[in-house]
Amino acid sequence: MIDNLTIDRIFAAANIVEVVSDFVTLKRKGANYQACCPFHNEKTPSFVVSPAKGLFKCFGCGKGGNAVTFVMAHENMSYVEALKYVGKKYGIQIEERELTEEELRRNDDRESMMVVSSYAADYFHGQLLETDMGRSVGLGYLRQRGIGDLALEKFQLGYCPDGGDTFTRAALGAGYKEEFLASTGLTVVRENGGYYDRFSGRVIFPIHSISGRVVAFGGRTLRTDKNIAKYLNSPESEIYHKSSVLYGLFQAKKAITHEDCAILVEGYTDVISMSQAGIENVVASSGTSLTEGQIALLARFTRNITVIYDGDSAGVKASLRGIDMILSAGLNVRVVPLPADEDPDSFARSHNATELRDHIRSHEEDFLSFKTRTLLADSGDDPIKKGTVIADIVQSISVIPDPIMRSLFTQSCARMLEVDQQVLVNEVARRRISHSGDREAVDFVRRQQRQAKPQPETPLLGPSDGGSSIEELEKEIVKYLILYGAKDFDYKEGKSIISLNVAQIILDELENNGLRLVNPAYDAILRLYAARRAEEGGVDQRMFVEHADPQVSNAAVDIITSDDNYPISNLWKRHGKVVELESDRLSIDVPRLVLLYKSKAIERITKELKARLGGEELPEEQELEIMRQITLLNKEKAALAKKLFRIVL
Ligand code: CTP
Ligand code: MN
Repeated sequence: MIDNLTIDRIFAAANIVEVVSDFVTLKRKGANYQACCPFHNEKTPSFVVSPAKGLFKCFGCGKGGNAVTFVMAHENMSYVEALKYVGKKYGIQIEERELTEEELRRNDDRESMMVVSSYAADYFHGQLLETDMGRSVGLGYLRQRGIGDLALEKFQLGYCPDGGDTFTRAALGAGYKEEFLASTGLTVVRENGGYYDRFSGRVIFPIHSISGRVVAFGGRTLRTDKNIAKYLNSPESEIYHKSSVLYGLFQAKKAITHEDCAILVEGYTDVISMSQAGIENVVASSGTSLTEGQIALLARFTRNITVIYDGDSAGVKASLRGIDMILSAGLNVRVVPLPADEDPDSFARSHNATELRDHIRSHEEDFLSFKTRTLLADSGDDPIKKGTVIADIVQSISVIPDPIMRSLFTQSCARMLEVDQQVLVNEVARRRISHSGDREAVDFVRRQQRQAKPQPETPLLGPSDGGSSIEELEKEIVKYLILYGAKDFDYKEGKSIISLNVAQIILDELENNGLRLVNPAYDAILRLYAARRAEEGGVDQRMFVEHADPQVSNAAVDIITSDDNYPISNLWKRHGKVVELESDRLSIDVPRLVLLYKSKAIERITKELKARLGGEELPEEQELEIMRQITLLNKEKAALAKKLFRIVL
């Protein structure tokens, strides 16, 4: 943990032009700097760095942020890693929170385990390349599998000598402690105190953390004896949690970001051969079925996953479940079959990069249609089996978080399954309730059950409501705060004209009424604005851009660089009158926005209360109380609507 004071000092010292220039060649253009965007492919520069605002923004792909989030995105570092990197560049001592003794000891242990793992990786690598035994046995094997020098280095492949305890003796001799050799599993300690090398006689595949430190190993036997496990892996340890590591991610992360896609395969050799053939955005789950932790890891780099599976694999069916998990993480999943008898390793060895890419492009299929097709093919004409298939597909669709994607998949699967689309829609909604208690779905099914037609929401203000969501309105509010907070405008209150300040009216109406914005980043901006306005020195846009919480910073950069800069919101542009003078617009738009937001907030609370009434049976007293509250809220909403009309007309 780095404390906020240190974070502030890092931002104060950092010059975004200097930081970005370490990775991208910038050209000066007026007050700003320009380049071709490093985050997407382009020929004309739309990537802009503003030293005055402390931010970067690509007007092509939309990526934006501050000096630290730039390093984070460009180098695929975690926030803390990026802070440390920028801090180091400017010679800032990073004050981490003081650790307890227990934490210190655990950190020391972890560090020692990583150090011994790194030693072991170097040792195995040296054995492979520099000893007779390693070269003839280990290297011979890898060569015969078609693995070249570049891949040997990139994946730091190695060989553990076949002597029983040769490695362990070397490590102890070099001063490494038995304790850490044992806790990393490199050395297995016998009950009687003797020990042996876990990976004795095996070819070594080191497993790296995202930042490239060796945390574990896989070792492949060179024997063909079926009684010997083909692969041995390091045990779980303080530094190796199998379920949250992906093999090859360290080597692949740049390519994954660049291609905005990760290819998922099963094994070590699949990754290496694909990478060697020129497809570098490849990772493996290493034999285990995919875990949520691994998916979360991938989601940091891309939202598009392509799963390549063996032509004859029963494994695909087994992994269908794992793929459902990718769907529920909101990622897009495609699958690519290989010809029978091929796995990614063999296929990559007999094809070049262009052929591989062509194969992927021409064979990839969206996962749900793939699953539907595969299951349908198995069920034949048997109606009972088909029922099971439909239930299974419904399950898969129901875990997709995005309602639009859900609806698209419902349509296409209904077509493939030859069932009525509405039936599928209902089933998906039902399933969502039993799983997640999805509010929308609950309402939807209630409506269906009552056999009533869904009632359209009566808009608050006719067209000028714009049907905007709470989220959109919040964004507008925060935009006015950041961009126009200091401005004043005239406001007619009855017969008198009073001068109001933009920030003041927003804060009075929202903050002081205890209304919290739903979006936590916007809420943080509002609160920080309120706090700083009260202080001397006032409010500066940079304190949002350089906020310690990167989510807040991202939201601020997004608002400051949004291209409909003045005014006003697309929300109003869609309807009706456009007022030209800035002060006139403010006097209409700010109060309208605030009142509209309050009405929406009231609507939302009312809805929640109504849902409680419609839900489980409540004691009569509580029910009455809720109804009373609903009546009050309705009155307030009506009053707000009146005010709004006054402003609009
Ligand atoms: N695996 C494992 N333990 C085993 C078998 C497999 O950990 N006993 C893991 C390894 O990560 C392996 C992956 O599962 O890479 C896929 O298994 P498999 O397809 O059998 O291995 P390949 O990578 O194809 O290995 P090879 O080509 O060397 O046979
Ligand atoms: Mn294989």
